[in-house]
Amino acid sequence: MVNLSATFQNHTFANPLMNASGVHCYTTTQLDELLASSAGTLVTKSATMAYRQGNPKPRYRSLALGSINSMGLPNEGLPYYLDYVLAKQTQADVPTLFLSVAGISMQEDLDMLAQVDQSDFNGFTELNLSCPNVPGKPQVAYDFEATEKMLDSAFKLFHKPLGVKLPPYFDLAQFDIVAKILNQYPLAYINTINSVGNGLYIDVDSETVAIKPKGGFGGLGGAYVLPTALANVHAFRQRLNDSIAIIGTGGVQTGADVFAHILAGADLVQVGTQLAKDGPDVFARLTQELSDVMAQKDYHNLSDFKNNLKEL
Ligand code: FUM
Repeated sequence: MVNLSATFQNHTFANPLMNASGVHCYTTTQLDELLASSAGTLVTKSATMAYRQGNPKPRYRSLALGSINSMGLPNEGLPYYLDYVLAKQTQADVPTLFLSVAGISMQEDLDMLAQVDQSDFNGFTELNLSCPNVPGKPQVAYDFEATEKMLDSAFKLFHKPLGVKLPPYFDLAQFDIVAKILNQYPLAYINTINSVGNGLYIDVDSETVAIKPKGGFGGLGGAYVLPTALANVHAFRQRLNDSIAIIGTGGVQTGADVFAHILAGADLVQVGTQLAKDGPDVFARLTQELSDVMAQKDYHNLSDFKNNLKEL
């Protein structure tokens, strides 16, 4: 008998799967569809303080090996998502929810965190430090000094469970530096990885890029990024305090990929590109496939293999 229930801090979810922020989570209709699906929980689209139109279209392209996007943080504004999670959290059958914020400036991040702190929201808040798609705004989490300053200020005013969404890192020295910074704070979790920023897909037949914003540069997701995502999950699990949980995001197409994320140390696993391709039904398939993989290996619970990756 396989039990997929996932413990995350002091919360339990029916299974470890959820959407990646930015996919199927812009509107209350999409969010309701996630709640009605087999996902264990959901995260809202990263919000700015007010409605934002985002970058010009086409800004998302599905590719044979994944996706490229430069959405530019289109969203309905924090009040819209905060109202949604506040309304849902009063319903008995709704799991603990995740609310994502991504200000265009540090001050906007702090203003949004203050607003969430003062609200009755009792779920997890995710501070997105890794959007690669706002023209002229580099990803905060690639600037280590700015990241530390951000977290210093955030924890002065925010008193609820807080996680951070990180970009992929590529050098072991970066993992050391970032983990040392993160370990200084009472973070509930990290979410790793955001898209692999500023890839460039070229269609050779038409000799063009695939998306309009930023001359075609955009964040990569899907199969392109699975090994990078697993590396980031595992490298951070090896370096972070045990008190900091990990959400693994990136490259999940099958239940075996979910298994790999958990084996690498993820507590929950998010699905982006595959959710965009298949819609919320993807969660029924992935939970079934994860159960099948576990049953074949005679694992009964996620804890039987979580963070048990073997080295050669
Ligand atoms: O462009 C976007 O809205 C993407 C945001 C993100 O990757 O965090």
